[in-house]
Amino acid sequence: MKFFADTAEIAEIRELAETGLLDGVTTNPSLIHKAGRNFLEVVAEIAEAVSGPVSAEVVALDYDGMMREADVLRQIADNIAVKVPLTEPGLKACKVLTGDGTMVNVTLCFSAAQALLAAKAGATFISPFVGRLDDVGLSGMELISDIRMIYDNYDYETQILVASVRSPMHVVEAAKIGADVMTAPPKIIGQLFKHPLTDAGLAAFLKDWEATGQRIG
Ligand code: G3P
Repeated sequence: MKFFADTAEIAEIRELAETGLLDGVTTNPSLIHKAGRNFLEVVAEIAEAVSGPVSAEVVALDYDGMMREADVLRQIADNIAVKVPLTEPGLKACKVLTGDGTMVNVTLCFSAAQALLAAKAGATFISPFVGRLDDVGLSGMELISDIRMIYDNYDYETQILVASVRSPMHVVEAAKIGADVMTAPPKIIGQLFKHPLTDAGLAAFLKDWEATGQRIG
């Protein structure tokens, strides 16, 4: 499973990149607002800090506007994935952009029908928002299972990028289903490392090691 960081905070991205476990980054207009940085500048910095795909989202709602913005975004770096919303103009733009060899992340997916359309439009990534579905009493993970089944039925190459991840269990459940990618805030990625038994076991090992009076090297 690929791990993307869902943030526009360059310091957090650099820190995660140092672990060697980071495969890409996703941003959205809300995350850019939160970072308080110039959109094009921060995306360029992120694209330099990581070698994998960096999603940068268009804000136009019409096809022509999306294509104009996509042109600006894809010129930033080779690893930019243009993010478009799951709308009719968005999928039209997706089809043309992927046909040109540009990576496209189709975002704001909330149904299997939408995911099927995105695959037909040649999307590189489909982003179903699991947390936001859970928020309204629906099952985000059921959607991931449905999309996995549909994509496998037809050998669609579109990668399932699980978004709106709110807990380590979202990551584990998505991995069990076979989602290709998950994107999560750095805080959630950090939580994946943690287990109280690891901390307790480590403390006990170190105590016993000290009692031996030995050193390594
Ligand atoms: O990047 C899109 C998605 O991950 C947003 O997550 O927590 O705002 O629902 P959230």
